[in-house]
Amino acid sequence: MRGMSGAGRVEGKVAIVTGAASGIGRGCARRLAAEGARIVIADKDERGGVAIADELGAPHVFRQLDVTDEAGWRRIVEETVRVFGRLDVLVNSAGVAVWGDIEQTTLAQWRFCNAVNSEGTFLGCKAAIAAMKTTGGGSIINLSSVAGLIGVPDGPAYAASKGAVRMLTKSVALHAAQRGYNIRCNSVHPSFIDTPMVEAVVSGAKDPAKMRTFVEKTSPLGRLGEVDDVAHLVVYLASDESKFITGTELPVDGGLTAR
Ligand SMILES: NC(=O)c1ccc[n+]([C@@H]2O[C@H](COP(=O)([O-])OP(=O)(O)OC[C@H]3O[C@@H](n4cnc5c(N)ncnc54)[C@H](O)[C@@H]3O)[C@@H](O)[C@H]2O)c1
Repeated sequence: MRGMSGAGRVEGKVAIVTGAASGIGRGCARRLAAEGARIVIADKDERGGVAIADELGAPHVFRQLDVTDEAGWRRIVEETVRVFGRLDVLVNSAGVAVWGDIEQTTLAQWRFCNAVNSEGTFLGCKAAIAAMKTTGGGSIINLSSVAGLIGVPDGPAYAASKGAVRMLTKSVALHAAQRGYNIRCNSVHPSFIDTPMVEAVVSGAKDPAKMRTFVEKTSPLGRLGEVDDVAHLVVYLASDESKFITGTELPVDGGLTAR
């Protein structure tokens, strides 16, 4: 879906998308590619990553990455700049959900959830800034959640990890602005989106049909979000259309946080 001029909205940009083997990350990779970006599909899931790389074809590539691995981040960013000449966009979508209230959540679960969601995003921002500041700037888009804006009685570890992503984002944005790096950083806050992450919540419930109705009804619009509902916002934040937008938090939640 290219613009009227024939050029895509992110034409020629180079993007790393983490978590791109599944769900929202995969949807973002598809949309960004459709709008003219070259994508490095990054995920720890090799099978899913190769499948989407094959679907998109050259010049898009898959590179295996565990977002908790700092050396891995250095390697993927260096290789991206070596192969494509620059890094313009980083979408931090890799994430895990850990459910259970504060009394049930173990320290190991807390650490796992925060290692991937919070520390993984921290490492991604650090690695991307190192490259972007030398190649003219860029846009970093961090997947937080409505759980980074409002409390979640059944998911304190997840909510805390997403709250950390929200404030990391603002701090990165201000730092980059102060230094004149021309790097923007924004967070996106979806409610329940129809992906394998939410499918696991539904199918793992005692009464899956009841749970599906519950997750649909959490949004005033009365349905689950679609991956493209998020991906379209991500394309906007990745593009120069959003060049005056940094340090902000954007819900994609069918009105949930308007209540
Ligand atoms: N689906 C939702 O309802 C929803 C709502 C709000 C926020 N989010 C956030 O959006 C992001 C994407 O969620 P999704 O629904 O697409 O999930 P998903 O489970 O479909 O995809 C997550 C991807 O992240 C990858 N991943 C997990 N740990 C990783 C690691 N250590 N290193 C590299 N890759 C890793 C997985 O392999 C998978 O491909 C997550 O950060 C999630 O918290 C999702």
